[in-house]
Amino acid sequence: MPLGTCRYSILLSALICFLQQAEKIFSYPISPAQTSYSSVPDFHQTLPQALLLVRQQAKLTKDLYAKRAKVVSEIPNFWPLVFEQAPPDIDEYVQPTDSAVLLSSLVNLSVERFELPNGDPRSISIKFEFSENEYFENKVLEKKFWWRRNKDGWAGLVSEPVKINWKADKDLTSGMLDLVYQVWEDDKAGKGDDTEAKKKLKSQMESTGLDGVSFFAWFGFRGLSISEEENQAALKEEQEKRKARKEGKEVEEEPEEEDEDDDDDEYEMEIFPTADDLAVCIAEDLWPGAIKYFLAAQEQDALSDINFESDEEMDDEEDDAQPSKKRKA
Ligand SMILES: *[C@@H]1O[C@H](CO)[C@@H](O)[C@H](O)[C@H]1NC(C)=O
Repeated sequence: MPLGTCRYSILLSALICFLQQAEKIFSYPISPAQTSYSSVPDFHQTLPQALLLVRQQAKLTKDLYAKRAKVVSEIPNFWPLVFEQAPPDIDEYVQPTDSAVLLSSLVNLSVERFELPNGDPRSISIKFEFSENEYFENKVLEKKFWWRRNKDGWAGLVSEPVKINWKADKDLTSGMLDLVYQVWEDDKAGKGDDTEAKKKLKSQMESTGLDGVSFFAWFGFRGLSISEEENQAALKEEQEKRKARKEGKEVEEEPEEEDEDDDDDEYEMEIFPTADDLAVCIAEDLWPGAIKYFLAAQEQDALSDINFESDEEMDDEEDDAQPSKKRKA
């Protein structure tokens, strides 16, 4: 078995043990932030229960994740190896240079449902920790996504741009992230639609497009602008509707939004428009499945060692050199 050749075999058995424990807890078929709830019949009834389950799950797994963090902190390159094996939904956004930054300097990743125990379990914070690197000064980059509802009945994740202190000539977003941050500051200061930063950002976005944009542009995502008051009012209205529905009263449904309205709502200067989906992928796949991805990386490593060695050591390692069956995680 390739894993037997691994130097960290004791840590690995601890990890596999963790994985087995975690699988029991994760075997609930839920996925809180995905909007596909709306396709479930009766989702107005099932949604609160699903959210209850997410709350419960977060509580149950808290200690487990703390233990995992301790074990994996002993393993060099744990998180870079996890990222190397990231599923396509994440990997497609990691450009070769991003990959080099992550491989050389990502030392920790953590996900927190930061509004628990009392707030919405779908709000997530994703924290990256880095060692000294040639690209930026930041040791920690934390991106928070709040689950918010607006007065039109839209609900989803919104965020605030995070500033990255790039070293000279090392900005992987070619200045776009800085501009997004400046625009956000201008908006907060009520500077209107005609600022220098807005004009610059707009023309840069038009000329470069979104192809090949750096993973680090993800830190610039804002989403819809929804104030806390608007969110609270919308939540209250939703709860009242749910209550009325439960009591069997007729409830007037929101008219389906016209596409044109949707476009008006959307924040048009988004340098990473799918950042909310990517955040959910990280929080619900990469983060809980980190050990599975790490083991996959180990196995690939072992397999390539075997291929490499097989030329010279064919004779005495014939049995070991059989390609192993892919481990089921
Ligand atoms: C990684 O982050 C988690 C959560 O913040 C923390 O508990 C853990 O100690 C960190 N590990 C390292 C190696 O810094």
